[in-house]
Amino acid sequence: MKHAAFLFSFIFLLGLPLPAQSEEAQVSPQKGKAIYKAHCMGCHGIHGKGDGPDAANLIVSPANFHRPESRAKSEMDLRGTIIWGLAFSPMHGWWKKLSGDEMHSVTAYIRQLAPHQPLRP
Ligand code: HEC
Repeated sequence: MKHAAFLFSFIFLLGLPLPAQSEEAQVSPQKGKAIYKAHCMGCHGIHGKGDGPDAANLIVSPANFHRPESRAKSEMDLRGTIIWGLAFSPMHGWWKKLSGDEMHSVTAYIRQLAPHQPLRP
């Protein structure tokens, strides 16, 4: 019994500083929403349909996140575009302006607006 109690408290102590928990606190769709409103909504629109007020002036239309092809993309794919941007496109990379957590959060918010759905074969 003594052993079990020791083992239990040991696991408990180990469990406390789990990095996953603190990461979760930094990344959330709520935080992403504020970032989206500040930086992305002008082009991508309030609902992510690519119809923001700045979209009219662009040669390449902002992505509509509700397109089946866009909804089929993984969060990794979306995050890659957000981090690095796209060549020859008004969608530039955000790695200089946003932190990793902020880009995580804004991706989570995009997936809240337009949930992931794989393409049907
Ligand atoms: C100046 C206008 C503009 C702003 C501001 C902008 N985007 Fe974009 N975004 C675009 C355009 C245009 C495309 C489509 C590019 C293409 O197809 O070549 C795009 C594409 C994307 C894609 C790829 C979507 C897909 O279906 O593959 C993601 C993700 C994205 N933007 C996220 C963001 C996020 C997050 C922000 C804010 C941090 C942001 N964008 C700000 C114009 C913008």
